[in-house]
Amino acid sequence: MATLFKDILITDGSRDKAKRVHMLVSKGRIAEIIDADRTPPTADKIISGHGKMAAIPGFVNAHTHAAMTLLRGLGEEAPLMEWLQNKIWPVEEKLTPEYIYWGTLSAMLEMLATGTTCFADMYFEMERVAEAVLSSGMRAALCRGITAGEPGKLEKSLQNNLELAEKFHGREGLITVQLGPHAPYTVPLEFMKKICDAAKSHGLGIHFHFMETEGEKNNLGMSDEKYLQESGLLEAPYVALAHAVWLDTNINLPDNFTLVHNPSSNLKLGSGVMPLAKWLDKGASIALGTDGASSNNRLDIWEEMRTAALLHKGVNKDPLCVSAAEALRMATYEGSKAFGFAQKGMINEGWVADLILINLDKPHYIGVNEENLTQYLVYAGSSADIVGTMINGKWLYRNGDYPTLDKEEILEQARHAREAILS
Ligand code: NI
Repeated sequence: MATLFKDILITDGSRDKAKRVHMLVSKGRIAEIIDADRTPPTADKIISGHGKMAAIPGFVNAHTHAAMTLLRGLGEEAPLMEWLQNKIWPVEEKLTPEYIYWGTLSAMLEMLATGTTCFADMYFEMERVAEAVLSSGMRAALCRGITAGEPGKLEKSLQNNLELAEKFHGREGLITVQLGPHAPYTVPLEFMKKICDAAKSHGLGIHFHFMETEGEKNNLGMSDEKYLQESGLLEAPYVALAHAVWLDTNINLPDNFTLVHNPSSNLKLGSGVMPLAKWLDKGASIALGTDGASSNNRLDIWEEMRTAALLHKGVNKDPLCVSAAEALRMATYEGSKAFGFAQKGMINEGWVADLILINLDKPHYIGVNEENLTQYLVYAGSSADIVGTMINGKWLYRNGDYPTLDKEEILEQARHAREAILS
């Protein structure tokens, strides 16, 4: 089935300005883009934009812990280690595979409504997460969070992560699987080497929390550069480092590294502000993440995009720092690229139709045009303007409805899970 977006504005993170076009989506791809003054192609479904709608690539939430929606609001206003040890970890022990399944689906409702088409998730019971992903048609990069604990837990978690990859990596083009060592303070260096060896031999990427807090950096026992060398991370097929707030900006990262900037989570936990401008100057790849819902507390990448675009202008006293187009590119294309998804995150003919439809017929878009659309979206817009989220050319969210998900059932089950883990 083909869908025609008739007379809409399109933009993405590679464009200086938007274009007013007709765009045809067919067989999951962007089949044709032509100027809006030409005769539009025919299609089964037509969305008439009248120049008052915009389509942009779907957002990629490049670092989250989706099922932590069930833990939202626990241990507010505490530093990272205190929050983890006293509030989060004791409750996480009560999570069952079933609770994680419903908590993940609940996160997906939230992410789809705010324009996320793909999320990179680090948690446990990931088989259930993969089932939730496949049943919805959403896209995800999954890893099992590997942490030390009782004897044998590290080995078992790695084995479990490799089985996840065996079973789900590449499934239906919707899922990629990474190895997910949690952080330097939860995985001993010796075991980190084993994980990096496994990543190399299985051709898998790594998703890792690194240099989130100053305390973590002080307790590392070596420089962060030395840690990257010793652990074997530099030789992994590809690596996403979440946070990197305290990562030494003198390090030259390989091209297959992406830093995942989580501005709201870092602000809320008082971890600091990542020196984004320095990394961008060095040409580093930067994607955006929300982190889990209990440290943000939203799963809204549009908000992270706006925060990133504003925060670094203030910190650097430079209004040119992080342009709207750069912020949009970080929120879309860079996350796709970081987790092994090809031809996603830009609006080009032949690319995958993971798209967001935005209603511009609102007061805060008065004055919007092809020249300034990206700036309007980043600075004036919000996820409340989204009227549709499409993955592989199919609507997963449209005008408040979720065609592939049972919203009422998910909310009920997630509420039940929340009550059970707190009782
Ligand atoms: Ni995290």
